[in-house]
Amino acid sequence: MRAIRMNVAGGGPDDAVEEEIAAPEPNDHGLIVDVRSAGVSFPDLLLSKGEYQIKPDPPFTLGSEGAGRVAHAPEGSGFAVGDRVAFLSLGAYAEQVVAAPLMTFRLPDELDYHEGAALIINYHTALFALRDRGQLKSGETVLVQGAAGGVGTAAIQVAKGMGAHVIAAVSSDEKAEVALEAGADEIVFSGGDEWLGRTKALTDGKGVDVVLDPVGGKRFLDNLRALDEGGRLLVVGFAEGSIPEVKVNRLLLRNTSVVGVAWGAFVGTRPDLAHEIGETVNAMVARGDIKPVIGRVFNFEDAAAALKLLDERKATGKVVLQVSED
Ligand SMILES: NC(=O)c1ccc[n+]([C@@H]2O[C@H](COP(=O)([O-])OP(=O)(O)OC[C@H]3O[C@@H](n4cnc5c(N)ncnc54)[C@H](OP(=O)(O)O)[C@@H]3O)[C@@H](O)[C@H]2O)c1
Repeated sequence: MRAIRMNVAGGGPDDAVEEEIAAPEPNDHGLIVDVRSAGVSFPDLLLSKGEYQIKPDPPFTLGSEGAGRVAHAPEGSGFAVGDRVAFLSLGAYAEQVVAAPLMTFRLPDELDYHEGAALIINYHTALFALRDRGQLKSGETVLVQGAAGGVGTAAIQVAKGMGAHVIAAVSSDEKAEVALEAGADEIVFSGGDEWLGRTKALTDGKGVDVVLDPVGGKRFLDNLRALDEGGRLLVVGFAEGSIPEVKVNRLLLRNTSVVGVAWGAFVGTRPDLAHEIGETVNAMVARGDIKPVIGRVFNFEDAAAALKLLDERKATGKVVLQVSED
């Protein structure tokens, strides 16, 4: 089968090459999925650079999530051959992948395979972050950083679905369009320093209840300043590259919470919660709250170009690879 492989450690997107490798053999534990679409995720970029927390020895197949049809289902897995599914599994940039039933979810009829490949990492994370870690309540206001990106567009839709008012922080007019299209109520431009003042102005000087931050870096301190008394800052990622530090007196003064969000690590040990989050996300799809934003579809062999789009900060919504036709 065709797969996108890394044969050297840490070379980055340019070293991601298409190769023929053996297809997986059926076993008693994992599903085998015929992959139709693979999601291009920030962790894939970090994996290609050797900067992710997991550092597989090369050669290895890139990819972490996708959507397709079940080709083999062990007894008791809860799935049947032919089921349309979205899955989380390393090695998703391939025509077939082995996926754990625990991290495989039925693909709602409302979504095509590209939308399915955009569903798990971003939407499951957004729900876990806002609901479980951020305790977001209907009527509260959320500021989403990197709002036109994969996590950002998902967070906008999940927060709106939970009844929140959403302010989207983006770096360009094009990204503002994407965030508004995803459902944001207001836009602030994060390129300069004005976004903080504008966020305060949009909240009558009080600040927001929750900031969801997948970007990190220099804006972190202003994220704290953007919070109302009792606000929660959700630490989701560091797309800008640097890991910020905070003096904790800032948290004491205004009863501020800085909350870590590690969706993958958490649900890996809590199968019940992984399943419940999947059901809730699918119910939000059925209600029309969630419709993944697909920014670009690349041909399978152009995986390196897809990864570079994320690296160059040019991606909007979710970038996906067309792996095969249904
Ligand atoms: N904690 C978890 O469980 C979890 C789950 C999923 C993802 N993540 C992490 O969340 C982060 C974002 O992932 P994503 O899929 O949303 O990525 P993405 O689609 O590429 O979006 C990231 C956004 O960050 C902003 N950004 C600022 N500086 C950047 C830079 N130097 N390079 C790239 N982007 C920059 C960009 O928005 P502007 O240009 O508008 O500023 C961009 O739209 C990653 O670090 C990822 O590993 C964490």
